[in-house]
Amino acid sequence: MQRLSEKKFAIIGVGKMGETLLKGLLDSQTLKKEQIIATARHAERLSEIQHRYPIATSLDNREAAQNADVVLLCIKPQATRDVLDELAETLQPTQLVISIIASVSTGFIEERLHNEVPVVRSMPNTPCLVGAGMSTICGGKYAMAEHLELTKNIFGHVGRTIMLDEKHFDAVTGLSASGPGFIYVVIEALAEGGVKVGLPRKVATELAAQACLGAAQMVIQTDEHPAVLKDAVTTPAGCTIDGILKLEEGGLRVTLIKTIVEATRRAKELIEEE
Ligand SMILES: NC(=O)c1ccc[n+]([C@@H]2O[C@H](COP(=O)([O-])OP(=O)(O)OC[C@H]3O[C@@H](n4cnc5c(N)ncnc54)[C@H](OP(=O)(O)O)[C@@H]3O)[C@@H](O)[C@H]2O)c1
Repeated sequence: MQRLSEKKFAIIGVGKMGETLLKGLLDSQTLKKEQIIATARHAERLSEIQHRYPIATSLDNREAAQNADVVLLCIKPQATRDVLDELAETLQPTQLVISIIASVSTGFIEERLHNEVPVVRSMPNTPCLVGAGMSTICGGKYAMAEHLELTKNIFGHVGRTIMLDEKHFDAVTGLSASGPGFIYVVIEALAEGGVKVGLPRKVATELAAQACLGAAQMVIQTDEHPAVLKDAVTTPAGCTIDGILKLEEGGLRVTLIKTIVEATRRAKELIEEE
């Protein structure tokens, strides 16, 4: 098996998430610019990308994919059928396809390709941009241990990784891929609270964001149940318990549970849309 630094990568669909991974992998020096080619639907998008990163680009998915060892599918679910049909004959069993597409199973991809190509699915999130991503990984029927290891290695350079059964991937999409979007709303709202009680907005935003980051690191590093950590902050008759009373009164807990249920439901149906 070649080392990561010896492999050629094709990013098919260098949109928001494709660019996030591109930047994360270049910034972390996981890949060099010479190893990467990226495609998009519009030439304007490729000009933007080339302006920011000196990599090869192409409007031709086949041309980009045929010389790559690893083909990273970063298109929207709705574009997947067409792109897979385009690549069906080009992709070979010696290559590895890694798909980050929500809603699209490894089985769906395998069925549309003409050869027995190893397919690995990864569901990352945008904090990959700053090395704090979370990527959940599973393999399709032709993916071997080495393909999963390679994928863990790639995504491990831009954050944490876990392996999980594919049946959970819509839930992972709802919680982990969409999750940063929900947390930005929480941070923004906490900061608004800070502004309401007199803090300058910039200070309030930094305090809110660092409180979220610190709390998240406590959960991950101590491995304690969040309720135990919450109890440790909540001194009897102190200010935290008064705040929690308001938070429960506002239904934050139920709202967040319903948020994940709804995002998961939506993740299931994306592939059905044209
Ligand atoms: N955004 C996230 O946080 C996130 C997280 C995890 C997974 N994902 C998954 O990542 C995928 C991309 O999401 P995104 O937010 O990055 O969407 P996006 O910004 O719309 O990017 C999609 C890219 O695909 C390109 N494209 C469309 N049709 C194409 C074709 N036929 N050939 C080549 N390129 C084509 C588009 O090119 P043009 O720009 O030229 O139109 C665009 O650059 C989705 O499947 C999503 O589920 C996203």
